[in-house]
Amino acid sequence: MFELIRQLVNLYGATGREAGVADAVEALVRDHVDSIRRDALGNLICEKRGTDPDGKRIMLSAHMDHIGFIVVAVEKEGYLRVMPVGGVGLAVSRTRHVSFQNGVQGVIVQEPVREGETPAMKHMFIDIGAADESEALSMISLGDVAVYANDCFRLGEHRVAAPAMDDRVACALLVSVMQALPKTRNTVIAVFSTQEEVGCRGAKTAAYSVDPDIGIALDVTANGDTPETKLPAIRLGEGAAVKIMDRGSISNPDLVRELLAAGERAGVRTQREVLPFGGTDAMAMQVSRSGVIAGTVSIPCRYVHSACEVIDLRDVEAARALLLEYLK
Ligand code: CO
Ligand code: ZN
Repeated sequence: MFELIRQLVNLYGATGREAGVADAVEALVRDHVDSIRRDALGNLICEKRGTDPDGKRIMLSAHMDHIGFIVVAVEKEGYLRVMPVGGVGLAVSRTRHVSFQNGVQGVIVQEPVREGETPAMKHMFIDIGAADESEALSMISLGDVAVYANDCFRLGEHRVAAPAMDDRVACALLVSVMQALPKTRNTVIAVFSTQEEVGCRGAKTAAYSVDPDIGIALDVTANGDTPETKLPAIRLGEGAAVKIMDRGSISNPDLVRELLAAGERAGVRTQREVLPFGGTDAMAMQVSRSGVIAGTVSIPCRYVHSACEVIDLRDVEAARALLLEYLK
């Protein structure tokens, strides 16, 4: 599982520019599904048909996109001014290594602010080593998007840190589930979605075309196990989290019960997740067409939306076993 996660977190795939990730995922699942297609938003939709014509359609969604910084202007000194694409934080972005799709590397920096002024994205710039504006514009174009640069490493025995763990860890989980899933009565549609970080836009169109009976988002969730943080009551290494509610959706209670029961049958640990903020592709699936039974299986993750998002491999394995048990 670690190698698969590493492969996927190291790919460039800013929000709205997920094609490289989709190519890699397609190669990994091609031999394990009946059909693969992409839609206008770039969603990769992989269907494994069920054996029973009256079986249900179950959509699983993991988003491929990664938060970043879009170039909006170039200063005469060659520095790039940026705006956020998705929820990038200022504090965790100061003096960070970033990289562009074309391989250009940069350092994102915050200039000192005037007294009484609150630091904002307008005080940030990216230094790509250009001497002036024209050199900068020979390296990148306005509208290019930088993301936190690759930096995937093991942390202790079971844990892994990397940028883009949100949500490539769930992309790896979904790839692995599709590779191991036998034919079942139900049709299972794995969607690797786009533009989640700007409002679950990919999952919205994918859910419309897939038209599922049940939708399950696979995403990371925040932790409450650092010294000063007790909420949400989610701890790294204590199992897959089954979401009850977040800001974007309230999970279907029967689905929550079935997912927790599947975890129990599979013999893995689960945690009940109530998140006071955030949202996942479940919020788009839930309100698709005339409504879809929806929920989320989450991977506990520390420091979400930073360059060092930390997960525990045992939680990923627990989520994998839970999902395979549920789907069969
Ligand atoms: Co996110
Ligand atoms: Zn996410």
